[in-house]
Amino acid sequence: MNEGKPLWSGRFAGNPAADLMRLTSSIEVDFVLLPYDLAATKAHARALEKAGLLEPDAAFAITDACDEMEQQVIAGELAPSPEDEDVHSFVERILTERLGETGKRVHAGRSRNDLVATDLRLWCLDAAAGLKDGVADLLEVIARLAETHATAVMPGYTHLQRAQPVSLGFHLAAHGFALVRDGARFDHAIEAAGTSSLGAGALAGTTLPIDPAVAAGELGFSNHFDNAMDAVSDRDFACDLAYASALCCVHLSRLGEEIVLWTSSEFGFARLSDEWSTGSSMMPQKRNPDVAELVRGRAAPAIGELTSLLSLLKGIPLAYDRDLQEDKALIFSTVARTAGCLEAIAKLLDSLTFDGDRLEEAAAGGGAWATDLAERLVRRGVPFRAAHETVGRLVKELETRGSQLTGLTAQELQGLGFEPGDVEVADPSRSIEARNGPGGTAPARVLEQVATLKAAAAELR
Ligand code: ARG
Repeated sequence: MNEGKPLWSGRFAGNPAADLMRLTSSIEVDFVLLPYDLAATKAHARALEKAGLLEPDAAFAITDACDEMEQQVIAGELAPSPEDEDVHSFVERILTERLGETGKRVHAGRSRNDLVATDLRLWCLDAAAGLKDGVADLLEVIARLAETHATAVMPGYTHLQRAQPVSLGFHLAAHGFALVRDGARFDHAIEAAGTSSLGAGALAGTTLPIDPAVAAGELGFSNHFDNAMDAVSDRDFACDLAYASALCCVHLSRLGEEIVLWTSSEFGFARLSDEWSTGSSMMPQKRNPDVAELVRGRAAPAIGELTSLLSLLKGIPLAYDRDLQEDKALIFSTVARTAGCLEAIAKLLDSLTFDGDRLEEAAAGGGAWATDLAERLVRRGVPFRAAHETVGRLVKELETRGSQLTGLTAQELQGLGFEPGDVEVADPSRSIEARNGPGGTAPARVLEQVATLKAAAAELR
């Protein structure tokens, strides 16, 4: 063995520059792949054994050494050295140091190209499962709050102008449904990563009689590659996970933004707890929503990492190119950030105290009854455009007088084309109850939505 030299040193007369190794090594980033690299190494040893290329004793010794290595790293008794180019080189060095010839035999029919793709697929499978858990945790918080607040009226907005009354439960449930889709996207990412690349070799398979199904089965993959060249160059599974993460972060960012608005003095819909507020170093009165702002802000790098990953792939020729080494830092940080954002927003949301009176007062104001009123005219046979016009005139009249709908007399209402009983549209609770079609705001409908959210959360576990 070329002690202290790279795995590929054989065809070179001289050593690589010390600076080259420092500038190209990936061990600091990819060492987290160690458990997956060890699992893949054990699976490959088994495939070699089945192919008659490794004696059962040797395969056992490799498995044993891999397990020991993992324990020692966890215990802090073993760590990579600067000469290890990446996690794969580290594993091979330790196996060779400990098992001699046997250690040198495990890389037959294998390349770091199929190995790193397999390691990363395994990592993505666990990462996506973890994110699904995070989504389920947040969904449970949202479902619980939506249930509690199914009858708590608040204004619904378009263009950030009061539009129609909704309930807080309905509004929160809307965020929940975006998360249900995120969960489905993480499921898709799991499906995309679920193919083993091991056995593809550097790019074109191997002359050795190794069956890729053996390693795939050992690793729990549902299938293995169809084309060796695709197997080493495909990073679609990482893009799928990065996209699912980025869109999830975008959803969390929108929720974060609403928390920022709701907890402002201008809205006053909710109050941040002491535990989940931050203060100002200068302004003693401040109670700041930094957690929500950071979740909003952290969607930016998540979007950036997805873009970086796609850009990384767009111009590289098949099959493996070293550019691909840069995929790991991107996907690792995107997943860690998404998990953090899911946890932060779940805890923040759970800690909010909503101000029911303030929500109700806001729901009743701003003419949010206008659409309901137009729809009453429609029920009486008035074409919607005409009804819209009639209600529009009423709104203008009230604005001019500076009065409320409930302040009009029966005669005044009739004079404007309405019936005296129409004032009841001004009651936001009636209004949300009246929108009782599927997916509507009626509390019974919101409870149906809550049940869907709870079922989706359970499904993600
Ligand atoms: N560290 C490399 C990566 O992350 C492993 C594969 C290296 N392969 C090679 N042919 N140099 O992509």
